[in-house]
Amino acid sequence: MLNFDDDVVAPVAAPATPAKPAVAPVAAHAAQPGTPLSGYHAQMNEQPQTVTEPPVEVAKASRVRAEDKRVINGGADVNQLVPFKYTWAWDKYLAGCANHWMPQEINMQRDIELWKRADGLTDDERLIIKRNLGFFVTADSLAANNIVLGTYRHITAPECRQYLLRQAFEEAIHTHAYQYIVQSLGLDESEIFNAYHEVKCIRDKDDFLIPFINTLTDPNFKTGTPQADQDLLKSLIVFSCIMEGLFFYVGFVQILSMGRQNKMTGAAEQYQYILRDESMHCNFGIDLVNTIKMENPHLWTESFKDEIRGLMRRGVELEYAYAEDTMPRGVLGLNATQFKEYLRFIANRRCQQIGIDPLFDKAENPFPWMSEVMDLKKEKNFFETRVTEYQTGGALSWE
Ligand SMILES: [Fe+2]
Ligand SMILES: [Fe+2]
Repeated sequence: MLNFDDDVVAPVAAPATPAKPAVAPVAAHAAQPGTPLSGYHAQMNEQPQTVTEPPVEVAKASRVRAEDKRVINGGADVNQLVPFKYTWAWDKYLAGCANHWMPQEINMQRDIELWKRADGLTDDERLIIKRNLGFFVTADSLAANNIVLGTYRHITAPECRQYLLRQAFEEAIHTHAYQYIVQSLGLDESEIFNAYHEVKCIRDKDDFLIPFINTLTDPNFKTGTPQADQDLLKSLIVFSCIMEGLFFYVGFVQILSMGRQNKMTGAAEQYQYILRDESMHCNFGIDLVNTIKMENPHLWTESFKDEIRGLMRRGVELEYAYAEDTMPRGVLGLNATQFKEYLRFIANRRCQQIGIDPLFDKAENPFPWMSEVMDLKKEKNFFETRVTEYQTGGALSWE
């Protein structure tokens, strides 16, 4: 068994094919064999060669083979998207693009009227909306930072990077959507956007997440040792299975329940699109984690799995505290106890998805309708108010 205190510089598990020398991103422009050199490359080629071993430039110029790609610590040129190896990532990129939407496409007029009517919503319903937005308006910025400043540079599979770029833009759209709801309803922007500092149950969730985001965004963090690779894997699991896969779900159920009761239907429609995107993010993250596990089995130790179980339990506690705080009494036919069961059900599912035994006995899903909401194809009228094509520099046209 590995001792992760040792400063190991290369994974112990032998890769399926010999690893190639590390390739810097600048290798993308290197000429292919047989291609006449010109300009800069021709000049470089005219220099007398005195070394006996192939210079690094030669290795950089070699064509990418799919079998040489790795999700982390890969040596293949990250700028060459093809030949494909991780088709699951490319397929998700295509699906994400096919699902493109923008917040302004959704009519918020009914929500605005309901919110402004004194008897339109109860105080408990208003609290749910404010708490929801208070969490989400900054959560997706954290998610975007985590991708752009952290995850992206540690992933060496270009298909996965392509998806991460799409995901980063979707996080921007989500932040836009929450801002659009806040603006439409005329809420106090500073109160909502600063809630992650001021509301304890929101702050606690973010305090849990931020160290894992900081790991990946630390400019000095580099993968390539078992310890660092486990740290990366842990952060990816926390991000996909706990943040996107658990911390979003109380909020989603609450707002979508409102929509099912014909309240705040515009906000619910926005959340429905977001839920579809987030379930794809979560699934991509799980595929990423499982592929890293497969390529680096030495990282998946019993003590590591124990640590993940502990984090998952803590995630359930934090999200349940959020449920209790946002629903001090039963509201919309929902109560905090149902959410305890629901969070246990989701946590079990996330554990199973990454190959860990379920944490909780007999946890059932009290909201089976959520899986139907996620599958937008079943919502026959869902696209009725959507624009059918995107235009640049002009007004959107509606059907
Ligand atoms: Fe998001
Ligand atoms: Fe996301």
